[in-house]
Order: sequence, then structure tokens, then C-alpha cells
Amino acid sequence: MQTIQQTAELQARVAAAARAGQRIALVPTMGNLHRGHYSLVEAARARADLVVASVFVNPTQFGPNEDFARYPRTPEADAAGLAEHGCDVMFLPTVDVLYPYGAERSVRVSVPELPDLLEGAIRPGHFDGVATVVSKLFNLVRPDLAVFGQKDYQQLLVIRRLVRDLGYPIEIVGAPIVREANGLAMSSRNQYLDPAQRAQAGAIHATLEWMRDRVAAVAPLAMVEAEAVARLQQAGLVPDYAVIRRAEDLGSPGRTDEPLVALIAARLGTTRLIDNILLTP
Ligand code: PAF
Repeated sequence: MQTIQQTAELQARVAAAARAGQRIALVPTMGNLHRGHYSLVEAARARADLVVASVFVNPTQFGPNEDFARYPRTPEADAAGLAEHGCDVMFLPTVDVLYPYGAERSVRVSVPELPDLLEGAIRPGHFDGVATVVSKLFNLVRPDLAVFGQKDYQQLLVIRRLVRDLGYPIEIVGAPIVREANGLAMSSRNQYLDPAQRAQAGAIHATLEWMRDRVAAVAPLAMVEAEAVARLQQAGLVPDYAVIRRAEDLGSPGRTDEPLVALIAARLGTTRLIDNILLTP
């Protein structure tokens, strides 16, 4: 596997692949890779000739009081893991490389509406930062497809909207959530948890499964949401939300036959965790 840090070298590498008729896949990450990320790399590997994974802790998607400074950075371990999982190129830029005018003075890409809900309401500007860096990566790599995890469900919808609205000729693949044995969704932020908190955090997935079963039993959605919040609190978590929304656009459910998604964000100590589960109507 090749590690590339500069944009010109990356552009030359992908241009050569495209000229040779190769199908190019991009897996954008913030590094500190775990099994969840490697499942994205494997999904890319199965669909493309050249797999590029970016490892970049993107400053513009963190709020002023968030964990940008302490976000775990493990590029050597990431390189070893990516090589092992069949990645061809690790793109490891610095902030100066991706933001030549500085992160504050960057051109911004802003997706309307969706970012005002849920994660976007709690983390103002977060999805603009994501849309901005993902657009930069799309422009540099020009992939045929890009793989994102379904754990960040709202992010996946924002990216799909970005691609459709700006006309990027890129297929977006949503890869299933990978979980620990107790159901906890794999996340780089899990390492902020001590062993007791890790065990406690299993309540998030258990609550999502409970919500799924209650919705299948046609329980009123508002009641399911209220009880889900109570369950999370009983397990010692501080929920930001536990909601049931339209899977398509996170709007409030109307018709009974539309696909739905249950989403939870909850805090455990100083760690904030998110998870979701698709519900079949
Ligand atoms: O999901 C992530 O890790 C990040 O939001 C992404 C898509 C790599 C953009 O920085």
C-alpha cells in the first residue's frame, strides 16, 4: 500500500488509474481505524480496482467545545490495518494540504434543511464541515463510488443529498453497522469509555431493538420515544434524543407504510454516542 500526503501526487495516482479504465473507490475516514472502518474498506475492495482511504481529522466538522484536539490519531496503526484489508492508497493530508487558505477561510459547502435536525441541531455547523471536506475529497479522488457507514445515518443522507444536488457522478454505498458483542456500535469514541461504561453503553442498541419491536407491534410512536428516553436514563445514560423518523429524510412520520428509522444520541460521562436501526413498516 502506498501512503500519499500531497494532493498533486494523489491526483496523478488516480488519473493514471482512471486512464487504465480502473474503477476507483474512496473510503473517507478520520482514522483511528477499527473493525467498522475495515468493513467499509472491504465493501470498497469488493466493488473497485483501486481503493483509496483518506485518514484526516477534519477540523471544520468539530464545534469549539468538541473533541478535535483529543480525537485519537494513530496513523501508523491505521496504515498497517488498511494494508491488511486490501487498501491500495492511504491519503494522509495535513490541515494545510486540504485547507490551503486555512480551515476558517475555506470555501464552504452547505447542504440545506437536513443539517437543521437532530445531530445538526445539537452540533451547529457540523454537517457543513462534513460536506465541505467530503466535496474536497470527491474532487481530488474523482471516485466511481464512495463508502460511508450507516452508523452516521444523518451524515449518509447529507452525502446522498450533496451528490445528487451537485451532480457528482459517484455511487454512494451505505455499509451496515458493525457492533461489539453487547450491541455497542463500533466507534473511535468508544475508547473514551471505561469498561463499566462500555457495558452500560450496550443499553443504546438494546433500546433501539426495543423501539423496533414496539413499532412492529403498532405502539404509538410518541409513547415509544418517551419510554425509550426513560429506558436510557434508567441505564445511566443522558439521552439527547431517542426518536422515530422517516428513513428517507428524517421528517416526522406520516403514512403508516413508509420506511422508518429509530435514532438515539446519548451521553455517558463526557462521551457522546450515536446509533440507529432501520424499521420495516
Ligand atoms: O464519518 C467520518 O468519519 C467523517 O465525518 C468523514 C465522512 C470522514 C468526514 O470527515
